[in-house]
Amino acid sequence: MQAIPPLEVIVLAAGQGKRMASATPKVLHPVAGQPMLHHVLDTLATLNPSRIHIVVGHQADRVRTETETAYLGQVTPPRTWVLQASQLGTGHAVLQALPGVAPDARVLVVCGDVPLVRAETLQDCVDGLEGAQVSLLTAVPDDAAALGRIVRGPTGEVLRIVEYRDASEAERGISEINTGILAAPAAQLASVLAKVTPANAQGEFYLTDIVGLTVQAGERVNAVRLADADEALGVNDREQLAQIERICQRRRASALLQAGMSMADPGRVDIRGTVRHGRDCFLDINVILEGAVELGDGVELGSGVVVRNSRLGDGVRVEAFTVIDGAEVAADCTLGPFARIRPGTCLAEGVRIGNFVETKKTSMGPGSKANHLAYLGDATIGDDCNIGAGTVTCNYDGIDKHPTTIGDRVFVGTNSTLVAPITLASDAFVAAGSTVTTRVDAGELAVGRSRQRNIAGWTRPDRRKSKDEDSH
Ligand code: UD1
Ligand code: CA
Repeated sequence: MQAIPPLEVIVLAAGQGKRMASATPKVLHPVAGQPMLHHVLDTLATLNPSRIHIVVGHQADRVRTETETAYLGQVTPPRTWVLQASQLGTGHAVLQALPGVAPDARVLVVCGDVPLVRAETLQDCVDGLEGAQVSLLTAVPDDAAALGRIVRGPTGEVLRIVEYRDASEAERGISEINTGILAAPAAQLASVLAKVTPANAQGEFYLTDIVGLTVQAGERVNAVRLADADEALGVNDREQLAQIERICQRRRASALLQAGMSMADPGRVDIRGTVRHGRDCFLDINVILEGAVELGDGVELGSGVVVRNSRLGDGVRVEAFTVIDGAEVAADCTLGPFARIRPGTCLAEGVRIGNFVETKKTSMGPGSKANHLAYLGDATIGDDCNIGAGTVTCNYDGIDKHPTTIGDRVFVGTNSTLVAPITLASDAFVAAGSTVTTRVDAGELAVGRSRQRNIAGWTRPDRRKSKDEDSH
């Protein structure tokens, strides 16, 4: 039995993306919160290639650095970065990478700006090399635009690819287009690319010319046609980027619905990361989930809720317009509306956070509540505490952050400022309107405000009288 030759991939990502009109290189523009190049790399990883060669040129260092940073510590196929100093065409780009490719490898060429293509589709393209020297991925989109056209002979055999700018009127009428994705043995690419010249309308070395040259040499070219033309959509401008974003979001919403998630409207939920969820969760409209989000069973997220890199336990209810970032929220907590739960927040079972409450690096024990208008930063709060409206932990002295430690069953009255570092022991009680600067022990009532004075016989200022005095 003959061993299957190794698979290596060349990713074309050197172009500037002029029509994006952006300071950011095109392949780093995000789709669903992740650079489009990284979508392509994630898809490629599932094919298990022995190596991925990424051809970069425009802002090469930035593309490389942001990519290597994003995949730091992850197990991925080995990557090689290939510099194409000037962008002389797709054929030239592939030639730059070929010296690093094993001579016996099958090579898959993809574009860094075509982020929706599926792994199974790429596998089909590679499998199309069976009995052929080139396997080509084609599509019949609604709008063939200025894409390269697939020219076929009388019996339907592929003859060549003609670029739109070089095409005759009749050729421009062909509805089947080149997706830009193809596979060929490394040796075939090397021999046939050596014959490609820049004798065309754009003065570029076209990768697509290898198709005609292969046919002329009497070799077979296989064309694999995409069932879903959307997969071949590339990004050249921001209109196309927005279109691809919607398609990607629709795919993700469908996958979640299929997995048992309920949504008020799958067209109004955005997933910019990975979501793990239990049974019977519900997302109301305009929910955004970012990074790694985990939801237990029966979690309900109200409209306009944003959850980023957080874990929410069973039965958690989040009311409208609440933002949760970097938090651990245990079962049966209720949050919001209009709450802001910042990184380092850890809420135990049954905690209640109400409107206009902000937490940061703060833990709250089971059953504790902060129902309205509070800032809780760098605080450790025990079980069954009641944090009154207007409570503020004064955790910052202008230089350093200081902790607030609150025991169990502590009652903090309305409009209290807790000047950190400070400790309120279990069963302490703080009177409304207090500024607390020293420790309160178990069972003590802290009153940290001036005593009320009532001044008898006081006369209100008289507006008319004071005007008269002014005019003197
Ligand atoms: C290319 C194909 C066209 C196909 C279309 C699909 C050629 C000649 N044409 O056209 O048949 O329909 O893709 O989207 O291949 N790149 C480099 N170095 C270069 C030139 C390009 O890395 O010197 C990269 C670009 O960054 C991009 C990809 O190759 O990721 C495609 O290049 P682009 O200039 O967009 O090719 P098209 O003209 O769209
Ligand atoms: Ca393009």
